[in-house]
Amino acid sequence: GDDRVQYYRYKGIPLPSHLVPEDMDAIQDFAVRDDDVFIVTYPKSGTAWLQRIVSLLRFGGDVSKTDLKEQDKLVPYFEQKCGDSATFRELPEAPSPRLLKSHLNFSHAPVQLAQGKGKVIYVARNPKDLAVSYYHFHFMVTTLKNPTSWEQFLQDFINGEVSRGAWHDHVLGWWEQKDSPNVLFLRYEDLQKNTRKQVGKVAEFLQWPVTPEVIDKVVEQSKFQKMATNPATNKVEGKEAKAGIFDSSKGTFLRKGIVGDWKSHFSDEQSQWFDTFYQEKLGPTGLQFDFE
Ligand code: A3P
Repeated sequence: GDDRVQYYRYKGIPLPSHLVPEDMDAIQDFAVRDDDVFIVTYPKSGTAWLQRIVSLLRFGGDVSKTDLKEQDKLVPYFEQKCGDSATFRELPEAPSPRLLKSHLNFSHAPVQLAQGKGKVIYVARNPKDLAVSYYHFHFMVTTLKNPTSWEQFLQDFINGEVSRGAWHDHVLGWWEQKDSPNVLFLRYEDLQKNTRKQVGKVAEFLQWPVTPEVIDKVVEQSKFQKMATNPATNKVEGKEAKAGIFDSSKGTFLRKGIVGDWKSHFSDEQSQWFDTFYQEKLGPTGLQFDFE
């Protein structure tokens, strides 16, 4: 994290400065194809895990096809500008099916997604583990501000004063779309509990034919330990490391990959006000999470 970094607000939501307003405006009019697959998340919800699962499914679990180059090239970051132009500007030339990752709020996403074009896999994670993961992430990412303390970070997180704004706005914006035929809403904790079942759901949603053997391979190759030791997925020397965005001396991208790590960070008091705050936001919506 670099203390000089500032966010700016685009339509009310704090965004990193590489997401310039001109690009954000253009994104709304992006021409979606019916076979586009968007993996959408609030940061630290299991994006890379889904990128791995979807790319393995795409190639029938064949790692010789998925691991030739880093995963972020197979499933590029839709809105990111890491160089001269944002990824989405290059996509009209890309062959189908385009597999994409994005952290866009529903209100910032291409309008055609809301009109039923393309497919969205949204992944949500319980906000306690997510906050812990995001906290650590801020130290290794040079374009995010170093938190001054855990307590301060937690306040900023709850207040939506972090990149991508309030977690509950992001999650609830997409939760409202969960019954659209082109949206699949998944939870990180369900993936942990029964990876096989969730992988099957993803394949079915994408209407990609798979055999039980393929599912086995996908489950095996998307395990945390496999991803953590695989240069194609661990991001140690990937594009973002090369661009100076990730500093691997300050942390690891595949950090712990568990449910319940929040217990090693939250005090009882923090846990209580956090629960109260999110109960108020989520209670009426029916969206629930497992915290262990
Ligand atoms: P932790 O920091 O809690 O370990 P994202 O890809 O959205 O940035 O999310 C990153 C989080 O997902 C990290 O959480 C990372 O370890 C976890 N993760 C990535 N791949 C995983 C996998 N195969 N199994 C479990 N967790 C995984």
